[in-house]
Amino acid sequence: MIHFLEISSLSCAQIDHLLDKAAYFKRTQTFPCYKGITLATLFYENSTRTRVSFDIAAQKLGLSVVTVNPAVSSEHKGEVLMDTVRTLAAMDVRLCVMRHAVNHMPHQAIACTNGRMQIINAGDGTHAHPSQALLDLMTILERKPDLARLRIAIAGDLRHSRVANSLQSLFARKKVKELRLIAPPCWQPHQVEYGKLTACLQEGIEDADVVICLRVQRERLLATEQMDEAAYHAAYGLTAKRLTWARPDALVMHPGPVNRGVEIDNDVMQSPQSVIFDQVHNGVFMRMAILDWLISEPVASV
Ligand code: CP
Repeated sequence: MIHFLEISSLSCAQIDHLLDKAAYFKRTQTFPCYKGITLATLFYENSTRTRVSFDIAAQKLGLSVVTVNPAVSSEHKGEVLMDTVRTLAAMDVRLCVMRHAVNHMPHQAIACTNGRMQIINAGDGTHAHPSQALLDLMTILERKPDLARLRIAIAGDLRHSRVANSLQSLFARKKVKELRLIAPPCWQPHQVEYGKLTACLQEGIEDADVVICLRVQRERLLATEQMDEAAYHAAYGLTAKRLTWARPDALVMHPGPVNRGVEIDNDVMQSPQSVIFDQVHNGVFMRMAILDWLISEPVASV
């Protein structure tokens, strides 16, 4: 049984299949119907885009959707997370979309599915957010299909960004020409899988074809990693003037949620170069492609 955990567990052919299928769903608005299959969303961290888009994607494919809210679940009566997973699998939930603050929690949950439920990683700690990376690449390819010529810059809180990790994996796989990683010293990653790291915003975004800003992840910062939002904006916020360092047709992206006036100025966010809400729109089709791919795999019998 296959699961959807991280970019590195996908083959290049599988990545291309998901990109093609998401584009097909978007272009044709023609979807298969998987009536009788149930999907559960199980989010231990806040979410708007990811949870709602998986919910909408599932409904478009004819799935039944149940929302398990850990805040009011039996975990408050002492049940452990792994028994919540076992419970969902025992009720014939076929797909479980999980977000958790702890790295690799969706990976660990697989051991409790009894081979009957597929786990979809909707973001684990600072580790990975693979569906976000795929929808970001889909959005780039719609406007700039020749990845071998692209200079892509990712700016912000790289140390805590699961999106940046998944994007590095994906851009390395897809052989993007150049990846620049920009962060203040206190938010530089301990490890870089792909790309060149700099603390200088201008150096990082000069002549870039795509500028991806990251959210400042207040909830994950240690005492030694604190940086005042005003100070961050003063040095790294994407303003209209700074955007002129990039190519004139550079795309501005952000996985969301955006802290307006911190990572990106309002006028940049609303400029024709911003594709931030196109990312959100594409998220539904990419998540449909992921669900369609997982459902097409055979399941163990009870
Ligand atoms: N990009 C992203 O994961 O957004 P949400 O936290 O709203 O799901």
